[in-house]
Amino acid sequence: MQEIKNNEEFYYPSESVIKQAHIKDWNELSEKANDNYEEFWGDIANELDWFKSWDKVIDDSEKPFYKWFTGAKTNIVYNCIDRHLSDNRKNKLAYIWEGENGEFQSLSYFALYRETNKFANVLKSMGVSKGDRVTIYMGRIPEIVISMLACARIGAIHSVVYGGFSVEALHERLEDSQSKVLIVADGAYQRGKIVPLKEIADEALQRAATVEHVLVVRRTGQDINMEFGRDMWYHELMNMPFAKNKCDAEEMDAEDPLFMLYTSGTTGKPKAILHTHGGYMVGTYATLKYVFDINDSDRYWCAADPGWITGHSYIVYGPLLNGATSFMYEGAPNFPYPNRWWQMIEKYGISILYTAPTAIRGLMRFGDAWPGRHDLSSLRLLGSVGEPINPEAWKWYHKVIGSEKCPIMDTWWQTETGMFMITPMPCVPLKPGSGTRPFPGIQMDILDEEGKPVKDNEEGYLVIKTPWPAMIRTIYKDPDKYVEQYWSKYPDVYLTGDSARRDKDGYYWIIGRVDDVIKVSGYRLGTAEIESALVSHRDVAEAAAIGLPHEVKGNAIYTYVILRSGVNGSKELADELVKHIAHEVGPIAKPERIEFVDSLPKTRSGKIMRRVLKAKALGLDPGNLSTLED
Ligand code: PRX
Repeated sequence: MQEIKNNEEFYYPSESVIKQAHIKDWNELSEKANDNYEEFWGDIANELDWFKSWDKVIDDSEKPFYKWFTGAKTNIVYNCIDRHLSDNRKNKLAYIWEGENGEFQSLSYFALYRETNKFANVLKSMGVSKGDRVTIYMGRIPEIVISMLACARIGAIHSVVYGGFSVEALHERLEDSQSKVLIVADGAYQRGKIVPLKEIADEALQRAATVEHVLVVRRTGQDINMEFGRDMWYHELMNMPFAKNKCDAEEMDAEDPLFMLYTSGTTGKPKAILHTHGGYMVGTYATLKYVFDINDSDRYWCAADPGWITGHSYIVYGPLLNGATSFMYEGAPNFPYPNRWWQMIEKYGISILYTAPTAIRGLMRFGDAWPGRHDLSSLRLLGSVGEPINPEAWKWYHKVIGSEKCPIMDTWWQTETGMFMITPMPCVPLKPGSGTRPFPGIQMDILDEEGKPVKDNEEGYLVIKTPWPAMIRTIYKDPDKYVEQYWSKYPDVYLTGDSARRDKDGYYWIIGRVDDVIKVSGYRLGTAEIESALVSHRDVAEAAAIGLPHEVKGNAIYTYVILRSGVNGSKELADELVKHIAHEVGPIAKPERIEFVDSLPKTRSGKIMRRVLKAKALGLDPGNLSTLED
């Protein structure tokens, strides 16, 4: 790529990048798709297998409860695996996996087919059937993928809980989903230590009553409690006569639920976002194909965790739908040394690396010598997701990791969108820090308070104006909340919760969340989750959490705590509260700082004014204080 400096910095793709790309002319594709997005998505859907075709691509008769590919029958797992058994990919590797301790495993498409079928039969033998919810709680090991696929194959709805979450977070999700089965690992390796997942699950299960069976994958091998009649070993079940090699994929309606995934919204507890077999399949398939330009010679590595949407869409479903070979790594990027990632890229010949700005910034801190020791020439494309990438990190990634030849796909999207929404493709000229423009067939805008589009470079609410196949269908058990949270600020327009601006070239620049969501190291947390964990401690009366800028994490959590009368704040108590949050929510929610205060700024109706706390912490003008109570 050559760097051309005009008024602004554009990074143009080289001729060879364009030559290889699926899409060579972004404008042409975009015009075609935007003219008739129904036809555009219908054509893409035709590249996949359906047991029965659709009557309609989009049904908006009950909007905002949009339906896609109505009348069609399919199963996403059939398209992820079975389809490749007859198209010469049977022996192609679906996954290459490396454990943090250096263990290695690979799974061909046929092996994935066999393991998924066997485990699907195990689930059936536990009485799991179509529509049942199954919770999965593991680290980054192949069994997490097999578990998700096995559920979807028989029509059960998976609910994956990130392995970095802890007792209360898991309990809440088990209870809300009313899962009958929990699939858990004994532990996970993280930075040479064991995260005791089963032990955490045992504590969560004491609080949640619906789970009948706990299926335990042995990963770390330490002694764990196995409750008789409830807990069973995965490896033993997989050797039972009922764990047969064949299990036909259940015929699902395109609109049948595929999974639910909990995420933090504006208020209260995390909500389960619901995605479906048909539309989600088409959306993740197309976006990965066009944006990461997947082909059969690629070794693609999405370094996210399967427990978040990035992992669902772009470690599991998107790559498998494209018949790709994915690499998966269990542990921390800098373990045992800061060259771990670069070493594995060299060793496995990774051609596409997709990660988060926080990881890039974290590894950048160790200097250029660590990546410099490795041959990274197999890389041809890079990707970024989860939070805005600062131009400094972008340039380092581009220069030091990508040798100035790998375009960076900065993909903006959300748990709710299911797929990339604002993203370049390899043929698109880039600007560091911008995700460029919306994906073809998707119309977005930036609106002011009244719903009028803002002028170039002005900040406003980022919205989506056309439906898209992988869109959230509803919030599980709370359709009213779905309408209220996403579709009520402006008529017929989806509110993303982000603020953004658009420059004169039509490029979008994400500024950040405008609601009570804090993005910490790319992880999405709600102020409410942190606050309720704090007030569940016996010494805390009230609490407020805010996000403040942090060099590596993007945002760090700061909390303000009012103690119960008679309790005095101390360093020991602050440490105890941090531990308490890690125990209840997870280590990712640990605050950077806990400040003991006598009062919190509130509106007259009692709502904590977090923006006032934020302004004060940053030494900025708190703005309009007319609604402040005191
Ligand atoms: O604020 C945006 C930020 O992440 C939010 C969505 O978080 P989550 O549902 O956890 O999904 C993350 C992975 C898709 C968005 O509302 N975000 C995501 N990608 C970007 C981003 N902000 C800036 N640039 C991005 N590329």
